[in-house]
Amino acid sequence: MTDTPFSDESDSQGPRAGTMARQQAIYTAGMSGQKPAVPVDYAALEAAAEQRMSREAFAYIAGGAGRESTMSANRRAFERWRIVPRMLRNVDRRDTAIELFGRRLNQPFVLCPIGVLEMAHGEADMAVARAAAARGVPMLFSNQASRPMEDCVAAMDAVAPGAPRWFQLYWSKSDALVESLVSRAEACGCEALVVTLDTTLLGWRSRDLDMAHLPFLLGQGIAQYTSDPVFRESLAGTDDSGPRPKITTRTLRNVLAAARHYPGSSLRALTSGEALAAVRQFIATYSRPNITWADLAWLRERTRLPIVLKGVLDGADAKLAVEHGVDGLIVSNHGGRQVDGARASLDALPEIKAAAPDLPVILDSGIRGGADVFKALALGATAVGLGRPYAYGLALAGENGVGEVLDNLAADFELTMALAGCADIAAVRAGETRLVRDETIAG
Ligand code: GLV
Repeated sequence: MTDTPFSDESDSQGPRAGTMARQQAIYTAGMSGQKPAVPVDYAALEAAAEQRMSREAFAYIAGGAGRESTMSANRRAFERWRIVPRMLRNVDRRDTAIELFGRRLNQPFVLCPIGVLEMAHGEADMAVARAAAARGVPMLFSNQASRPMEDCVAAMDAVAPGAPRWFQLYWSKSDALVESLVSRAEACGCEALVVTLDTTLLGWRSRDLDMAHLPFLLGQGIAQYTSDPVFRESLAGTDDSGPRPKITTRTLRNVLAAARHYPGSSLRALTSGEALAAVRQFIATYSRPNITWADLAWLRERTRLPIVLKGVLDGADAKLAVEHGVDGLIVSNHGGRQVDGARASLDALPEIKAAAPDLPVILDSGIRGGADVFKALALGATAVGLGRPYAYGLALAGENGVGEVLDNLAADFELTMALAGCADIAAVRAGETRLVRDETIAG
């Protein structure tokens, strides 16, 4: 075969998201006037999604805590590292696969949980589930999903039986609910349980506060709860003595929206009061700010799944995680949505890896392109977590949009890896290609 800029032997091994086939497909389709469904460039992707979404939906997904300084720190941290490409290193055959919790993944990334995806697209988590399953990318079911995990599993299994899925848990005040969610996750074939530690209280989200908009109050993003037998049983005893909004036409519209989001007949949900009781019960119990390291033993006794802690930013916490026998870490500042002023996830990564050298460490917060994946892996990450980009792909083109975002990231990463002189992830991890600091970018 003549060598063209597209030539890629590994493409003959069947469709795989991260191959040169993606680039070739885009240019070839362009010959007949077809453009990709979603912009390849991240800034353009975000801008297009903003045009498509309601102001409230975009604010909820795009926004961060406070002055959003952590969101920009996340990006600056990536920009401060520069790749020093190596030449003449035979990158003809490339392999971007990794091993994570006993499963081989074709690409070193997972879909981090994003709640309330119905704000982005009517098919919400179902579209993401299908796109992820088709590519073998693990989907982390959000505790704040718009669709129950069982529905997503059915959608995934219809595409690729046994496609990888994990469950993300917010540790509720109700032990019985935690037990129920964990056993549902196990029954769903989830391969890891991700406990988000950084959201025991919801961050100060300026954009949402300015619009006085919280989707959960409209019954959105609580499908894991309203589909849960333990949660539903608890509704009878809910306390409705909390603050009440003034009754206006908007209030009535919102109450109707909450009823519409409740499973079964909306009329029944409205007249029985169950829909509003579910919202109240969710607010009252969704998280337990008094959890401590000691509580992990309780969870350990209740599941055989690997336990992964998400939100770790300090090496001291990573050491505690090791001492408490957890199975993995996600270094994350929740996409800058919790502590405004928190350090960048990437800046924390080397310290976390040094403190927990034997644990898989996933880097989340700020991944926007292939070079970011490369830098995270070179700095010690086992894999990376993707967030806002796939939500924007969803907003723009549903399942196809999520798929394109994943395919673009996979292809971009594979190309970056190859052009930097690494044929596989082991070479990236071994530092065969160096990263250097760009001192012109302030911390
Ligand atoms: C919830 O996880 C959020 O970030 O809004």
